[in-house]
Amino acid sequence: MCDRAVTATFAQMWAELEPIGRHAQTGGYRRFAWTAEDLTLREWFAAQADARGLDLVVDRAGNQWAWWGNPDETPGAVLGSHLDSVPDGGAFDGPLGVVSAFAALDAFRATGRAPSRPIGIVNFADEEGARFGIACAGSRLITGALSAATALALRDVEGTTLAETIGVDAASVGPDPETLRRVGVFVELHIEQGRWLIDSEHAVGVGNAIWPHGRWRVELPGEANHAGTTALADRVDPTLALAGLIQQARSAAERHDALATCGKLRVSPNAVNAVPSHVTAWIDARASNEAAVRAVIDQVRGFAEAAGGSVLEESWTPTTMLTPSVVDQLATVLGAPVLGTGAGHDAGILATAGVPAAMLFVRNPTGVSHSPAEHAEPADCAAGVKALTAALGELV
Ligand code: GLV
Ligand code: MN
Ligand code: MN
Repeated sequence: MCDRAVTATFAQMWAELEPIGRHAQTGGYRRFAWTAEDLTLREWFAAQADARGLDLVVDRAGNQWAWWGNPDETPGAVLGSHLDSVPDGGAFDGPLGVVSAFAALDAFRATGRAPSRPIGIVNFADEEGARFGIACAGSRLITGALSAATALALRDVEGTTLAETIGVDAASVGPDPETLRRVGVFVELHIEQGRWLIDSEHAVGVGNAIWPHGRWRVELPGEANHAGTTALADRVDPTLALAGLIQQARSAAERHDALATCGKLRVSPNAVNAVPSHVTAWIDARASNEAAVRAVIDQVRGFAEAAGGSVLEESWTPTTMLTPSVVDQLATVLGAPVLGTGAGHDAGILATAGVPAAMLFVRNPTGVSHSPAEHAEPADCAAGVKALTAALGELV
């Protein structure tokens, strides 16, 4: 298959995905796990697998695997990423890796070379954790990093549990060593979520490490009362504590060379004319080292507790090194630079579980991600597919 044909197939897949879950006003994507949009994306993945004669397998966490060859005989080389999004996310975070994987498989097959082992493409379920709160839930579940009991009890904003959402299949959710055994090596291609590749003037880089990061839920109690009749001195207003908490998180992050974000809030009862009875806030904290993240959270916890509140760790991912031998192999064969990232990925969860894994990053000219402004130029997408095809050729 010549470059032009691969580019055309890529463009066709991209066009098919483009309208799914796109919000008319914001232009951002709302593709949350196990919603109608997500199910449409999963059907799309299954159709792509079917069109290529691949065997579709859904594992014990709902991750979709499309196989060419039998991975129970020989563990395969797997490409792919995820199709879900954060609220009003960009088009590329996740889908670029899945679409590029199908395009790379097509390009590899067009060479006529018989692979030395099976080739797989994966769509990981609920990577962003936008609905149930835990990122990389699909990969954490199959590796056992997230227990089935914890996962199934997670609730979305409507109060619906994951168990209720997936229904009868919930009984089979859990660690899946059989699925993991099938993966000899995993390469996740992903849009870059910062400016490293812009600054280094490369279209593609190889990912080698992921910063430690986590999510904490902060509960701040208050007392509901009337906005027009309650004197300021008589109020127990949790939004005052919230304002202080956000300032604390920010100043602690500055002091410890870390990042801290309060991007999700629930104010109860959320009425314009009522002093709130309660605030729930989520803090995402990350840094190049674990001690810095812990120091930020200690400060946030101290402040919350002094305000009568509490802090609960919802998820934690330690410093993650992708597999050095695979990283070196890809960097050498592609002549590409090596970079780390502050974003979490399923490749990191697999690497931590002992599955050889690496990542490829594709330049993002805006440097913006988790936003509709996320972007990749067609030429860079093509460079990504070419690099992924070369990586695949090296690994099979
Ligand atoms: C995943 O995108 C993350 O939040 O790092
Ligand atoms: Mn993301
Ligand atoms: Mn992603």
